[in-house]
Amino acid sequence: MSNGNQNRDSFGSKIGAIAAAAGSAIGLGNIYRFPCVAGENGGGAFLIVYLLIILFLGIPIMISEFIIGRRSQKNTVGAFKVLAPKTGWSIVGYIGILCAFLILAYYSTIAGWTLEYIYKSIINNFAGKDLYAIKQEFNNFNNSAIRPLVWQAVFIFLTASVIIKGIKQGIEKYTKILMPLLLIILIILCIKSLTLNNASEGLKFFFMPDFSKITGKVFIGALGQAFFSLSIGMGALITYGSYISKKDNLVTTVTSVCLIDTFVAIMAGIIIFPAAISFGISPKAGDSLVFNILPMIFNKMTGGYIFCLIFFILLAIAALTSTISLLEVIVAFLNEELNISLNKATIYGSVAVFIIGLLATLSRRDGSILSFDNIIFFNILDYFTNNILLPTGGLLIIVFLGWKLSKKQFNDEITNGKTIKIALKNFIFFIIKFIAPFAILVIFINVIFPNFFANIFRTI
Ligand code: TRP
Repeated sequence: MSNGNQNRDSFGSKIGAIAAAAGSAIGLGNIYRFPCVAGENGGGAFLIVYLLIILFLGIPIMISEFIIGRRSQKNTVGAFKVLAPKTGWSIVGYIGILCAFLILAYYSTIAGWTLEYIYKSIINNFAGKDLYAIKQEFNNFNNSAIRPLVWQAVFIFLTASVIIKGIKQGIEKYTKILMPLLLIILIILCIKSLTLNNASEGLKFFFMPDFSKITGKVFIGALGQAFFSLSIGMGALITYGSYISKKDNLVTTVTSVCLIDTFVAIMAGIIIFPAAISFGISPKAGDSLVFNILPMIFNKMTGGYIFCLIFFILLAIAALTSTISLLEVIVAFLNEELNISLNKATIYGSVAVFIIGLLATLSRRDGSILSFDNIIFFNILDYFTNNILLPTGGLLIIVFLGWKLSKKQFNDEITNGKTIKIALKNFIFFIIKFIAPFAILVIFINVIFPNFFANIFRTI
């Protein structure tokens, strides 16, 4: 973190930049949210759309965010002010700040669950329990008055303490070691899940697309999930881009981050769907899928106790590296644009997040006044940020890059001032300028007017 431009902190090495961005990307979005959304949207059909979106929208938008961040050396709002002074573009940054608040509010609810589950693992609470009992406890926990709130507060506190330490020491050091460990545990879990009864049914659900299931809803679901999972669309990676060395190859950094992130999401699918079917749960069970199924898998493993404990610790850390990137957006803005000291900015930001987050957590209780029928405040935050704010932000970011910045600036930044060769740079620019904005618009229009394109095709 910095108090001005001269002594701006930065990542120490290329692998550090990849680790930090991957740390932001990999989180509850991959392991908790991906299986929920994929399950609700038809499994295989969703996966194909998701992968296409990562390739044609995710990669170009992530490159755009890094370019904007590294070129301006600024936070999300400051970046637009530097690159397009006296225009309205900084509104994109402000949308990002709003988005960071709203995402953190409900993200910290779920992040708090990981701490409860670490505690439950330590006291060996899951041992010998069946799915019904585990589910019951999960519901009781969510319904209890203060427990989820305490964990949420602890989690926000942890996030704030890392931010105060500064970027390099805080984020880079931990992610470099812990992310690979998480991958190893996920691989072990995949193997276990695949050896359960009826595992192949789950794999079929996840990998065999039923094309008749692809609707506008699947597209917007995949779009929101892809943006959420890659941490794009609100400037988190503009802020991180500003800490990346001018010598790093942005394209290979982005490709690595997108590959690792997608790999982790797919592994989560390979773990959850076979296990769900084997335990007799519908893959559409949504929300509680992961938190109920995983302890069951551990129950069936030799050494389950220790694996369970390590897994939830790593999941909490994966969530932590994500919440850090979200809070960092807010803190860097308060610090650089409003000249609030780093410590104060971190405290103000965290308290504000906790206040909205409190409402998100409480809305999950049965009969909460913050919920109406099935529409609870928590879900409203999730839907609004992922399916509306992030895609809108992503759209504005690529339009900014494609239409406002010059192609010369793009070329200069992506080739590190002509010092490296980027084979596909014209193709990437073409996608950023024409294809990606068009694709996002089409998906939006299709959601707002569900039969728009069907009608056009019919009349042709
Ligand atoms: N990508 C993270 C996850 O999958 C969540 C996250 C962190 C995020 N930073 C973000 C989402 C910025 C959107 C924007 O868990």
